[in-house]
Amino acid sequence: MHHVICLKSQRSCVVLELEVGQAPVWRHYGARLVDAPMLYAWPAMSQKRLPPGTMDRLDGIPLVPTWGNGFHFGNAVRAHQDGTHGVQEFVTVDWQEHHSAWEQIVTIRLRDDTRELSAKLELLVTMSLHVATNVLSVDSELINGGEGVLQLDHLAAAHVGLAANLSEVGYFHGQWAQEHQWQRTALGTVGWHSQNRRGKTSHETPPTCYLLSEHSHDHSGEVVAVHLGWSGNHFLEVNRQDDGSYAVSGGEWLAPGEVRLEPGQSYRTPTLYVSWSDQGLNGVTANLHGFARQAILKWPRQTMRPRPVHWNTWEAIYFDHNPAVLQELAVRAAEIGVERFVLDDGWFRGRHDDTAGLGDWWPDPAKYPEGLGNLVAHVRALKMEFGLWVEPEMVNANSALFRAHPDWVLQSPGRAPQLGRQQLVVDLARPEVSEYLFDKFHALLSAHPISYLKWDMNRDLAQAENAQGRLVYGQQVVALYALLERLRAAHPTLEIESCASGGGRMDLGILRFTQRFWTSDNNDAVSRVAIQGGAARTFPLEVLGSHVGPAPAHATGRTQSMGFRCAVACFGHMGVESDLRHISASDKATLQCWIAIYKSWRGVLHTGTFSQGKTANGVWWLVQTACQCVLGMFTCTPAVSPHHAPVRLPQFVQSGWWHVSLLGEAGQERCRANSPAPWRHALMRGGVTISAAELVNVGLPVPNMNPESALVFALQRVVE
Ligand code: GLA
Repeated sequence: MHHVICLKSQRSCVVLELEVGQAPVWRHYGARLVDAPMLYAWPAMSQKRLPPGTMDRLDGIPLVPTWGNGFHFGNAVRAHQDGTHGVQEFVTVDWQEHHSAWEQIVTIRLRDDTRELSAKLELLVTMSLHVATNVLSVDSELINGGEGVLQLDHLAAAHVGLAANLSEVGYFHGQWAQEHQWQRTALGTVGWHSQNRRGKTSHETPPTCYLLSEHSHDHSGEVVAVHLGWSGNHFLEVNRQDDGSYAVSGGEWLAPGEVRLEPGQSYRTPTLYVSWSDQGLNGVTANLHGFARQAILKWPRQTMRPRPVHWNTWEAIYFDHNPAVLQELAVRAAEIGVERFVLDDGWFRGRHDDTAGLGDWWPDPAKYPEGLGNLVAHVRALKMEFGLWVEPEMVNANSALFRAHPDWVLQSPGRAPQLGRQQLVVDLARPEVSEYLFDKFHALLSAHPISYLKWDMNRDLAQAENAQGRLVYGQQVVALYALLERLRAAHPTLEIESCASGGGRMDLGILRFTQRFWTSDNNDAVSRVAIQGGAARTFPLEVLGSHVGPAPAHATGRTQSMGFRCAVACFGHMGVESDLRHISASDKATLQCWIAIYKSWRGVLHTGTFSQGKTANGVWWLVQTACQCVLGMFTCTPAVSPHHAPVRLPQFVQSGWWHVSLLGEAGQERCRANSPAPWRHALMRGGVTISAAELVNVGLPVPNMNPESALVFALQRVVE
């Protein structure tokens, strides 16, 4: 007797076919269905005939593909008992559904269909479809119900069958200072596989991909977004099925011997988030942003406060901390409108460069003979919050901590330790290590009104062996989450930023414990257009730290105008990172002006629906709420035509009339000296009125701009 389980959200739907004693199969993942008589009347296998050259069985696309059910690749489970019992087939035992206005959930209990009791395994697959945002959360838990020790080599959080038209994959590549670089390719016959074994989310392979049809683009077409909420090793795989369609799966990438289950023990995967839209990439972006806001982010006191403008010491002074200079910089920061002063690396004991000090989490007595108290009080007196940089998971060999506890680090016994940025990683899963770190930061946070930690992580894990010689990549992440949670519980008003040499740890796993990502160490505004545009495909603007850096930019050596740097930084959680003692009066005025614009419009930028598209010479970013919108246009390359065609905004979902005005412009318009531009003058003189239909279908007239220029518009609904 085949049962059809259907979970529905506002726009999407999951349909599974279940039968007790049989492997569950996918029937549909995509558009919400109103009626589906064929799915109910005809089981998947009844619609197929056995083709030559295949195994003698008929199935659909399984929820849990394994060798036991004849699947050769894309296996969801790889497990064995010391090399035996390596074949499994999971069949349905029972399931439970729970539907509410908020989410629709099904938990399916499966067991391995073996006659040998000594190898009994149970699998719980939990799916929850978030009704308002169309995001499906899936995880799997494997329970060793047998008598032997089970070695688990691989467990997918989910294996999702996709519609046959989804034949391309979009994903991000990156490196330090070049995060979230968008890539797109056809899947072909081998599909697409991505693995991260760096022990942190990584710059190189963020755990996100997008399955697209060849006709899907920013604004239209079907897209499925897939993201693993996990800050460690991972895999994502898209495999071709025998009907030419693809299935996507993902989970934690397990190192040899990493998960070993005694009888009765279980392993639960991180959550794979999946979202479907027929509104192109911007459609799944809106879903993911909504989900992050409604289901992931946990703000102190439950609601997001306006995101305060940061000033961060790093690119201004690096390790050269001098309290008198810092006090002067704090005054200058307050003058331009900064609301949170963040003391970056260099404040703690022995930290004169990056060779020493990590682990000794108390103020350096030479730099801060009286501790941090005076500086904190000075900053607070200037009506700014105080934030502090930390890198808890790391230790330098040249530190009191390492000298006292050399055995606390993760490294392979008998081998030379592998350093990254001259540092080693401590074994957070050891209770005494987490206790030490908790005590140190709890003491600092209790002694001073510090409202924010920039939590950094500046190297990959390599020899991640604990004192027992076991690889513990995953345990490290679990222990990290526990430490973050413990600190937040002890300091409920604390906000935390996730940083890993810039954007090396950006994922929805860590976002459950943090409120900001340091998007990139690259503050070059041209680079930032690509980096922030890529990151914003997954994460909402309010969590994307974006700073106005020095010129020339330290990461690239390129120089952009202050206005252009500011316009780009506005579309995120804005901050400043340059030495305010050395900026010109006109740059200071420009900075003040853009900070004021950011403050006036952050309510829209940080709650509205974000979308993005291309202009002839760059990109546009649009953020919409019901009555107010902000539109940024960024020109990065020289103009390709003498005039720019009007820019259509297919994602403008509003109706009615809108008053468009220029909030700010940066860089130079490209035109002949005296030529009249009545439209532009009308915009400058107070704005123009345009209908939503015109914005979508005709477009906003814009001039050609020189490279490294920006126009930022405000759109306000006209009350009729
Ligand atoms: C990392 C961060 C930077 C800065 C330095 C300090 O590189 O990404 O922003 O905090 O560490 O050492």
